[in-house]
Parts: sequence; C-alpha cells; structure tokens
Amino acid sequence: MSKLWGGRFEGATDALVEALGESVSFDARLAPWDIQGSLAHAAMLGSCGIISEADAATIQSGLKEVLADIEAGKLAWDPALEDVHTNIEVALVAKVGDAGKRLHTGRSRNDQIATDVRLWMREQIDSIVTLLARLQEALLDCAESHQDLILPGYTHLQPAQPVLLAHHLLAYVEMFHRDAERFRELRRRVNVLPLGSAALAGTPYPIDREQVARELGFDGITRNSMDAVADRDHLIEFVSDGALVMMHLSRISEELILWSCPQFGFIEIGDAFTTGSSIMPQKKNPDVAELVRGKTGRVYGDLNALLTLMKGVPMTYNRDLQEDKEPLFDASDTVQLCLEVYARMLPAISFNREAMAEATLAGFMEATDLADYLVTRGVPFREAHGIVGQVVRHCLATENTLPRLPLQEYQRFSPHFGDDIHSFLQAETLVARRNHPGGTAPVQVHQALHNARERLAAYRG
Ligand code: ARG
Repeated sequence: MSKLWGGRFEGATDALVEALGESVSFDARLAPWDIQGSLAHAAMLGSCGIISEADAATIQSGLKEVLADIEAGKLAWDPALEDVHTNIEVALVAKVGDAGKRLHTGRSRNDQIATDVRLWMREQIDSIVTLLARLQEALLDCAESHQDLILPGYTHLQPAQPVLLAHHLLAYVEMFHRDAERFRELRRRVNVLPLGSAALAGTPYPIDREQVARELGFDGITRNSMDAVADRDHLIEFVSDGALVMMHLSRISEELILWSCPQFGFIEIGDAFTTGSSIMPQKKNPDVAELVRGKTGRVYGDLNALLTLMKGVPMTYNRDLQEDKEPLFDASDTVQLCLEVYARMLPAISFNREAMAEATLAGFMEATDLADYLVTRGVPFREAHGIVGQVVRHCLATENTLPRLPLQEYQRFSPHFGDDIHSFLQAETLVARRNHPGGTAPVQVHQALHNARERLAAYRG
C-alpha cells in the first residue's frame, strides 16, 4: 500500500503507526454528516465558480452513491486510509474520477471534522432533549397515578417529614428539566459553521461561508478560523451536560435500589427490569438501576478524558484532538441508552402503600409539628421542643408511635395537649399543612403537576 498523502515521502508508514493513527474504526459513524457537509461544500464551490457547476453536480451524485453504499454496508472501510473523510473521498474518486479530486478544494480535514461533529452533535442534542421529555412524562404519569401516596421524606437518610410520593417524583422532574435546558442552551453554541476555516488560517479561494451555513441549517458561521479548528469546548459541555443527567439518574437509581430492598419494601420493579441470581433462587435484583449508577462513573471518566486531553494543546489543530471522539460517542450513547431504559422502567414499578404508611408512622416524623402544636397553645418553642423530646423517649421505651399514643399519656407531659391531637398528627394533615408554592400539600402538588405538564407541552410545541 502506498503512503497516504505520500507525495513528499520516500518510505512507507510503519504498521504500528497505522494502528495508532487510524480513526475510521470509530469515526465511520460520522459518515452521513461528513457527506452532508461535503454536499454543501461542493454546491458552494460550484456556485462560486471555484470548480465548474458540472464537476459540482458530478461530485454530488457521486457522494450520494457513496452514502447509499455505506448504508447498504457495501463500503469496505480501510484503516490505511486513516479516517472517515479520506475513506469517503477515495470512494468518491473511485466512482466519479477527476471531478472527485476537486472536492477538497479550499477545505481541510481540520474544518471538515469540526463541521461533522457539530452536525452530529446537533442531532444528538435533539434526541437527548426528546428522551429527557419522555422521562419527565414517565415521572409525571407515575406521580399522577399515585397522588395520595405518602412516604417518609429523608434528610441524612433518616426519616424527617412525611411527603407525597408525587412531590418526591416532581423533584426529579425539576432536575431533568434543568438538564434539558442545559442541552438546549448548548445547541445555540454548537449550531455555527466552522467550514471555510480550512487548515487554520482560512483559504484564498472566494468561498461563500454563509451559503454553506444556510444550506446546512446553521444559525451562523464561526468568527475565527483558528478557534474554529482548535475548539472542543462544545464537546466538553456536551459530555458535562450528559454527566449531570447521569448524576441525576444515579441518584434516582440509588433511591430505587434502597426502596426495593426488603428493609424499605416501598417498591417492586417489574420482571422486565430485574434479574435473578445464578445461585440464590429468591433474588430479584434491581440491576438496571445499578448499571445506570455504574455507567455514571463511565461518563464522568469520559468528561475527565476530554478535559485532560485539551489542557495542554497549543493552537490550533493537533492530532491529539482525534482522541476526542471515543469519549464523546461513549458518553452520548450511554446517556441516551440510560434515559431510554429509565423511561421504560418507571411504568413497571409498583408502589407498596402499606409499607410506605408503616414507615411514615415509624420515624417520629410528627415531632416538629407536635412542637408547633404546643407553640400555638402558648408554650415557648424551646420548652415545646423539650416536652416533645420526652414524649418521643417515652414512645421509644414503650414501643409506641406519636399518632398512636393515647391522649392521657400525652397529658402526663403537658396539659396543653387536647383531644384534637390525633387528627393533627395524621400524616395527611402534616402534609396538607405545607401549603405554599413549592410545598408538599396536595393542592400545591396538584398544581405543580399541572405546571410541569404545561411546561413540557410548551417545549414540545
Ligand atoms: N481524524 C482526524 C480527527 O479526528 C481528522 C482531522 C485530521 N487532520 C489532520 N491534520 N490530520 O481529528
């Protein structure tokens, strides 16, 4: 095999250098976007008179044939041709001859790869935003169909105050909504055309970058040719936004894992999303949640790889930058797979009302409200806090709970306890008292569900 771009060389490339330098094994997936960019570039070269209109047309029909071959699995990707760009260019020339050799006029693989990745990323962002909307919908469905369920809300993983399950799930809706916002904001920065920057300094040909930008649906063109070929900020942002999605998925995973263990028993995850043990017949393991939690570390690794890759690279393009693709693709694939599996798994979760109610009774979560109760009857808060502490200790000693403790026993600690104490201590009452926007009272949660639905619909429309 003769040396690629070998005009100025006498010797061949060492076989190991080919193995080190080839990227086609992972960048071949960019082919549709590479060809999309080349079609627009060829059209512009033709209409600006840089190549003949006839050559431009020949190139375009040849590129479409190459794309059809790729889609049919008929293109034999050759690692000796390094990357997706050269493989496609060589295939084009094989089809259309000399016209194909004019395609690379006024262009470099440096602005070409920058363009390919922006085109690819734009679509991935749209797909991730859609998946985030689907996940939010699944959470809202789940919240809506369990609107009266109450469970302990935790701080320090200790029972703190009862909350509606719907309120808890809506917390995740907020997180995934912010994640979607971040990706939408990133899309504006991604959607500019680097092509025309050529290797680094621009090109002497009379190109029309605006035409190419319009053709490719970009909102504008990059302003500095050196930045355009050297910049990988948007890859880091993309993976960073993805890492935040994974962090949120990992937190909900952790909760589902806890909730499904018998000590909590709040949920059961459907058979389609759990696995058995090869040795312990009784097991039903929440592997999906565990894998998502595990894959979070993988995406953090991708982010770290990109940040580290870029920190010492001088202007402008350096071959190091080829190492950006595997972490980028890995993060994108992982985030999308995890989002999709989660939207499917959530409807397969059943909630155990009794276990949640039992846990809600058990944690003395009424204690703060009980102190407030005494305060409204004139007892100073510090004193009320002390009285309730004694009541809790008494309950612990007698294996009782605050809602079940008889009134006479309450009155041993303070004469201010009245016969409304038991209805006051119902979890439903405690929850309903947090009645302000952002609180867990059913009317507020109902409104929050409605607002979240409208917000999603507005983004979709
Ligand atoms: N495969 C290369 C990459 O991904 C494309 C750009 C190559 N440019 C170069 N000057 N060798 O970075």
